[in-house]
Amino acid sequence: MSETLTIALSKGRIFKDTLPLLAAAGIVPTDDPETSRKLILDTNDSSVKLVIIRATDVPTYVRYGAADLGVAGKDVLMEHGGEGIYEPLDLRIARCRMVVAGLPGGYAGSRRLRVATKFVNSAHAHFAAQGRQVEIIKLYGSMELAPLVGLADCIVDLVDTGNTLRANGLVPWEDMAQISSRLIVNKASMKMKHRRVQRIIEQLREAVESEH
Ligand code: ATP
Ligand code: PRP
Ligand code: MG
Repeated sequence: MSETLTIALSKGRIFKDTLPLLAAAGIVPTDDPETSRKLILDTNDSSVKLVIIRATDVPTYVRYGAADLGVAGKDVLMEHGGEGIYEPLDLRIARCRMVVAGLPGGYAGSRRLRVATKFVNSAHAHFAAQGRQVEIIKLYGSMELAPLVGLADCIVDLVDTGNTLRANGLVPWEDMAQISSRLIVNKASMKMKHRRVQRIIEQLREAVESEH
């Protein structure tokens, strides 16, 4: 009997962009998480399961070994800290930038800057490195609204096309990091299921390289 392998993915862009890479590694899900309510998806390979969870929960599942492998944005890994997991491969999907953004004009005034974001740790580290005093307001989404209603002076958020910023009259003030999704691996799985895990890493690596 072959050992099972569990891969943690989030719905939406990560699932969509990971599908062709998994297919290149011979893994094809038998259900579509966008239409199915199932959280554990079977694949064509009875020894491989996919678990569908919130993007921010992927490092947690992998760290505790509830999943052997996972796909997580660098933004999510920076927030999590990456403890207890390996990050062997940049999948080069879901690419975007993490930026500081606000109304046109940029940093002004000397009072303590109020920053709204869901990336609390990244924002903290960024402004601490600049020696800037900030008050961070944790939000869970729609960050772009915060400067418009006076909740914050600026936001730390992800930008791809810039459409969301533009639609809300905001501009990037500063680039913080280039973001893409990474393959992450549970440390014990890397040892205990070494051949299996290593093979998938190599297959995904080839798929990524053939696409770029
Ligand atoms: P949830 O919807 O559960 O709150 P989320 O917004 O983090 O989670 P997604 O929007 O699917 O979930 O984002 C998953 C990952 O994709 C992010 O962690 C980030 O790395 C990347 N990402 C987010 N927004 C964009 C974007 N506009 N363009 C490209 N990549 C993005
Ligand atoms: C993400 C991000 C920005 C937007 C940026 O939101 O939080 O709001 O994309 O992309 P753009 O520069 O191409 O406009 P997402 O689409 O993931 O929506 P969400 O609020 O559901 O996370
Ligand atoms: Mg999102």
